[in-house]
Amino acid sequence: MTALPEQYRNQVVHDDVMTVLRDLPDGCVDMIYGDPDYNVDIKYDGHNFTSSWDEYIGWYIDLARESLRVLRPDGNLFFINYPKQNAYLRVKYLDENAYAVHDYAWVYNTNVGHSPRRLTTAHRSILHATKDKHNRFYKDQIAHPYQNPTDPRIRERISQGHKGRMPYSWLYFNLVKNVSRQKADHPCQIPEGLSELLIKSCTVPGDSVFVLFGGSGSEVVQARNLDRVYLTCELQRRYCEIIESRLRNNGVIADEHRHPAQLKQRNGTDTPYALPHVQQTQLLREIRYYREPM
Ligand SMILES: C[S@@+](CC[C@H](N)C(=O)[O-])C[C@H]1O[C@@H](n2cnc3c(N)ncnc32)[C@H](O)[C@@H]1O
Repeated sequence: MTALPEQYRNQVVHDDVMTVLRDLPDGCVDMIYGDPDYNVDIKYDGHNFTSSWDEYIGWYIDLARESLRVLRPDGNLFFINYPKQNAYLRVKYLDENAYAVHDYAWVYNTNVGHSPRRLTTAHRSILHATKDKHNRFYKDQIAHPYQNPTDPRIRERISQGHKGRMPYSWLYFNLVKNVSRQKADHPCQIPEGLSELLIKSCTVPGDSVFVLFGGSGSEVVQARNLDRVYLTCELQRRYCEIIESRLRNNGVIADEHRHPAQLKQRNGTDTPYALPHVQQTQLLREIRYYREPM
């Protein structure tokens, strides 16, 4: 079985994810996790990646093609996006090229949404694609405890060692609010509980997780804390610095990397936020700069 090449193990790469994907050999990554730009005019540290719809979908398909290529045959791929973007990717590429595709929903509460003519969008799609029928999946690592343990059938399942039921295909996690102590100065940060669940669903310690888009570093910090071998790419130097700083500081977001809305709320007695399960002895990793920012 091909392993993730040494130079990419536990690395934050300041480069285009397509460059790194194209450099990787076939079948070398256990899990691919992609939370790309959604092509909806979001600015990342002043930079906007939005292009025409056709260009975006063409790019998204290329991303999926390369991601499937580098995924191990028994690996799992997850792409988070708005429902329409993921629907196009699924119909135009994944259904034909993956062994199986599942569409889950991440649902959240939001106070935004004042359109008088439609319901408020309060979910994102998570596409889960596999390459063959033997994808590795670990129900017991993510099982929800049974609600009715005294039911005879459930009692029997528990006696057989089952830990609970598989989570539903919809997952509820609150958005990371700007005033939250877990919020970095990044416009779209995925809640840690969501990435933790996905990473645990299909990998064990020592497995490799390619977080395609580094962003604020939340998923990379999770992967590292779960003892997975991580790799991530990020085009914005400022975000690379946030990720590197979080990895160096056991997940803590340094004051200069916190969201400005949160800093306003702080009082003098506040202490930095640390992930509760982070050990203080973890190794520092080095950030790799492949080239100067454009
Ligand atoms: C939706 S955000 C990811 C946020 C991340 N999930 C988090 O929780 O912080 C997408 C990120 O990808 C970066 N990005 C966009 N295009 C990229 C590319 N082609 N290669 C690498 N990074 C890219 C953006 O700068 C942005 O930080």
